[in-house]
Amino acid sequence: MPDPELLEAAIAASRRAYAPYSQFYVGCALRTATGAIFVGCNLENRSFPAGICAERAALAAAVVAEGPSPVITALLVYAQNADRTHTACAPCGVCSQVIVESAADAEIGFFGDHGEFIELRATEL
Ligand code: THU
Repeated sequence: MPDPELLEAAIAASRRAYAPYSQFYVGCALRTATGAIFVGCNLENRSFPAGICAERAALAAAVVAEGPSPVITALLVYAQNADRTHTACAPCGVCSQVIVESAADAEIGFFGDHGEFIELRATEL
């Protein structure tokens, strides 16, 4: 079961995404050991590699607030399609790489192809 606070925060973040190119709106919410929640959304750019995913935006927010090595206990990803319906989304390869380094012990939650909620350890991504 998704953590309801993280889910609500990730949904709210996905609604603020800037994704005019893909129309794929992603929100990420994470919790640190202090109990604080940080969120991120994807921010696209016409120069494709300049875009940033929701997960890395949320991790950056945690670092800005808590310093270089926040202890992240849980991280949840939520995505919406162009018609703003909920859809599956697992962290991409680049984000998985960053999660493994910066949120090694976190429980990573996301929705699968059949609407199921999947929880993995960072190293299992
Ligand atoms: N995206 C994320 O923000 N997180 C993911 O886990 C997968 C993909 C973004 C990147 C891009 O803005 C859009 O979704 C389509 O790939």
